Amino acid sequence: MVIAVDGPAAAGKGTLARRLAAHLGLAYLDTGLLYRATGRRVLDSAADPADAAAAEAAARGLTPADLARGDLRGPEADRAASAVAAQPAVRAALLDWQRDFGRTHGAVLDGRDIGTVVFPDARVKLFVTASAEERARRRWLEQGGTGDREAVLAALVARDAQDAARAVAPMKPAEDATLIDTTELDADAAFARALAVVEARLR
Ligand code: CDP
Ligand code: CDP
Repeated sequence: MVIAVDGPAAAGKGTLARRLAAHLGLAYLDTGLLYRATGRRVLDSAADPADAAAAEAAARGLTPADLARGDLRGPEADRAASAVAAQPAVRAALLDWQRDFGRTHGAVLDGRDIGTVVFPDARVKLFVTASAEERARRRWLEQGGTGDREAVLAALVARDAQDAARAVAPMKPAEDATLIDTTELDADAAFARALAVVEARLR
């Protein structure tokens, strides 16, 4: 069984997907980490994350150790991830790996294109959203709640726009996805809502 959890930055995808996986006894894959680690490898090589050849090489050379790095979050890593993620060759390089993971374990995967491209036949598809202001507030809190909140909002809105506008595997809800707006929902309430959707689909 595969459950797809897609949506924009800081909507609560990871929190929800991790809890669903634990509850249902499924594996969990944060697919954003693949793009973040690819972007970080390109930055390490002093190339531009928009450089298609460098980004493809970085994606093809990913190792498990790259995914465990401690420097995959923050504004620079966010921008690099979104830049490499816009490139068809990078997405192609990471596709089979994601599919193998889901098929081998049964899994909850969170990302942008899980329900549309990676697992279009997923048993359950959720699209998790929240207002941009609330998502920026959450990301700002995660970063210590001390920096420039307006800058966090602007970066988040710009990244969402880039992820939604790209030609290949843009962020968008699958036609058969259930929308969950977490603007007014804490993690417990979002989990309860999602579990009800899952149970209805499996019935
Ligand atoms: O945690 P957050 O929602 O901020 O980001 P993430 O899920 O870690 O994803 C980082 C970036 O990777 C996104 O902005 C997308 O550009 C890209 N991504 C993607 O294109 N497709 C996915 N399935 C997952 C992430
Ligand atoms: O994976 P994604 O970037 O979509 O978001 P996340 O990492 O699951 O959640 C971002 C932040 O929002 C975390 O600090 C969560 O604890 C918080 N959160 C929340 O306040 N309310 C929710 N319903 C879900 C997450």
